[in-house]
Order: sequence, then C-alpha cells, then structure tokens
Amino acid sequence: MKLSDLKRLFAAPQPICEPGHVADADDLAALHAHAFRHGWPATEMEALIADPTVTTIVARQGRTAFTRRPVGFVMVRAAADEAEILTVVVAPARRGRGIGRLMMDETIRRLYFMRIASLFLEVDEGNDPALALYRRLGFREVGRRSNYYGNGTANALVMRADLK
Ligand SMILES: CC(C)(COP(=O)(O)OP(=O)(O)OC[C@H]1O[C@@H](n2cnc3c(N)ncnc32)[C@H](O)[C@@H]1OP(=O)(O)O)[C@@H](O)C(=O)NCCC(=O)NCCS
Repeated sequence: MKLSDLKRLFAAPQPICEPGHVADADDLAALHAHAFRHGWPATEMEALIADPTVTTIVARQGRTAFTRRPVGFVMVRAAADEAEILTVVVAPARRGRGIGRLMMDETIRRLYFMRIASLFLEVDEGNDPALALYRRLGFREVGRRSNYYGNGTANALVMRADLK
C-alpha cells in the first residue's frame, strides 16, 4: 500500500451537513458553551430545534452513521421573507478547515428555497474569523450597535446578505 493510500485511509472524513434533531440538543449546547460566555442550556437548545420558525443545520463528522458526531451548527430564525442568524459555531479543534463555510452554504441553500430574500446577523466587530466568514459569503455591514455586549468596549456590526 502506498503512503498516499494510507494517509487517505486515516484522514478525517469530510463532514456532512443536515438538519438538526431534538436528540442533538446536548451536543449542540456543549458546542455553544465552548464558544460563548452565555451558553444556552440543553432545554433551550431543544426548544429552538423544535421551533418551526428555526432552521438548524448540523455538521457531523465520523466514519459511519453511528460514530458521526456534531462538530458545528448554524441556527436561523425566519419570518416572512427575512431571516436572522441566531448562532454559528464550529468546535474549537475543527476551526479553519472550511466547516463554517460548508454549514453556511447549506443554510443559505435551504433559505433560498424557502424564498427568503434577506439574511441578517449581528457580530462583535472584533470577531475576525466570523467577519471573514460572513464577508466571504457576501454579507455587508448595514448598521452598528455601540456597547452591544455591555462590556463598554465591543460594538456589534449588523450585516445583511441578499439571497435573491
Ligand atoms: C466563526 C466560525 C464559525 C468560523 O468557522 P470555521 O469553520 O473556522 O470557518 P472556515 O474554516 O469555514 O473559514 C471561513 C472563512 O473565514 C476565514 N477564517 C477562518 N478562521 C479565521 C481566522 N482565525 N482569522 C481570519 N480568517 C479566518 C477563512 O480563511 C475562510 O475564508 P476564505 O473562504 O476566504 O478562505 C468559528 O471560528 C467559530 O465557531 N467561532 C466561535 C463562535 C463565533 O464566534 N461564532 C460567530 C458568532 S457571530
């Protein structure tokens, strides 16, 4: 067997993106708690996943259906022809490998078929990885909220992407 074959055999499989289930609530709460100071408890996560106005896309990685675990997720709330990103998270050890982009592409694809015209989000102006991801996807700054996070320093940018 060649070295390249061995490398392919042991390389992490590509993540797949699919809708989240209520059974994912514990895993998604843990991912969220790693990323944000104000975590969402599993009960809140469960309610959001079950909410018909919320679209949850989960990236799962693993060799088989049984070993595949969530490594990131996106939650979006839709109303009429607009939607708002509630959260986007990738597990710290899996960041910078295109998973955020993959999840957002799948989310936007679904929103497009739901006839959503505009997608909004709020992001800390110092969050460079998130800003890079959003700008790459075509989001543009449409507003700014001062001291949004209540710590006297960070401002939030309001961004919008037109899907049509
Ligand atoms: C923001 C986040 C979801 C990005 O996920 P990710 O899987 O690391 O992102 P990707 O690997 O798909 O990268 C997407 C783009 O951002 C860029 N990027 C990723 N990490 C970066 C970093 N640390 N600095 C600068 N750019 C970065 C990539 O180069 C890529 O741009 P490209 O397509 O032009 O190459 C992830 O960093 C995260 O979970 N952060 C903590 C939670 C958070 O802040 N969420 C956003 C709240 S609004």
